[in-house]
Amino acid sequence: MARVYNFSAGPAILPLEALQEAQKDLVDYKGSGMSIMEMSHRGKEYDAVHQEAIANMKELLGLNDDYAILFLAGGASMQFAMIPMNFLGANQCADYINAGAWGSKAVKEARMIGNVNVAADCQKDIPTRMPEEGECKWTDGAAYAHITTNETISGAQMKSIPQVNAPLIADMSSDILSRPLDYTKFDLLYAGAQKNLGPSGLAMVAIKKDFAAKGNMALPSMLKYQIHIDNNSLYNTPPCFGIYMLCLTSRLLKAKGMEQVFAENQHKAKLIYDVLDNSGFYRGTAKQEFRSDMNVTFRLPSEELEALFITQAAENGMKQLKGHRSVGGIRASVYNAFPIEGVQCLVDFMKDFEQRNG
Ligand SMILES: Cc1ncc(COP(=O)(O)O)c(C=O)c1O
Repeated sequence: MARVYNFSAGPAILPLEALQEAQKDLVDYKGSGMSIMEMSHRGKEYDAVHQEAIANMKELLGLNDDYAILFLAGGASMQFAMIPMNFLGANQCADYINAGAWGSKAVKEARMIGNVNVAADCQKDIPTRMPEEGECKWTDGAAYAHITTNETISGAQMKSIPQVNAPLIADMSSDILSRPLDYTKFDLLYAGAQKNLGPSGLAMVAIKKDFAAKGNMALPSMLKYQIHIDNNSLYNTPPCFGIYMLCLTSRLLKAKGMEQVFAENQHKAKLIYDVLDNSGFYRGTAKQEFRSDMNVTFRLPSEELEALFITQAAENGMKQLKGHRSVGGIRASVYNAFPIEGVQCLVDFMKDFEQRNG
């Protein structure tokens, strides 16, 4: 089998066990004679997958029935629009933290709908970072406060969740279920699936039902959270295959437990950060106290060396290490499914590359 160590930021590596299970089930799902992609989303086989995916998400997030779990098409970017459409009324203001490219995109979409206060803006700071405690200027009576817990491009992650009075909303696309958190702090949290949960195109949304009920009801059906809640995320044909994959990955996360998932993630990231910290050759791009456990970003002394690093890493079975096109450099994304052996391989390669080129 020719699997590489895949450092992609997303769509990203999925657990091999989940891929193999999907492969086994692909043409004949559990003796039905059909694949899960070919059957009714109202039939008993798919329904069991749907219900299990919802139950697993609730359990992993530690949420009770005050919350609904929704699986919506359009990725996390659709949520950037749906959130203000549902919750940012006329004469209201929403607070946003803008700490990177994804926070900026969320702000841009919300501004199409209503008033936005950027409570803290460190989007352009180098080293990249999250706002410090006390830096955020929250609005009294804000409709909601929106944060991005992990900026996938910059490699900065919130290590603690800000205390706010307004309903709290989080884009957790690139660190969902990577660590135990008190997820009940959030009125709405969402994640594009393509990093820690499953394939792209699907967003997992956890939303407090009483918060959704206060939303704008004068919206087209597909854009209204309440419709999706009322229909248990089966208002229209859902992205069935993506939900099935998410169900498989959630089983594995449950079996491992969030404490263990977190311990492994911290360990993997630390192995790479230790190389950066002990080198005059590599330079981490995120401020130390905000360094992401999911996306490790760094630079080499020149762009030529970065290109050589990426080429030689690929020749050694380590792919998709190129930083985002907007910032360059190197980005090693080490999501839940990324194996420790791959991190060890990268670390050995980094040391060797430094010796040869430093
Ligand atoms: C933090 C964050 N938010 C939002 C998105 C956008 O997700 P999508 O492409 O699913 O719309 C991404 C994509 O990488 C992301 O990393």
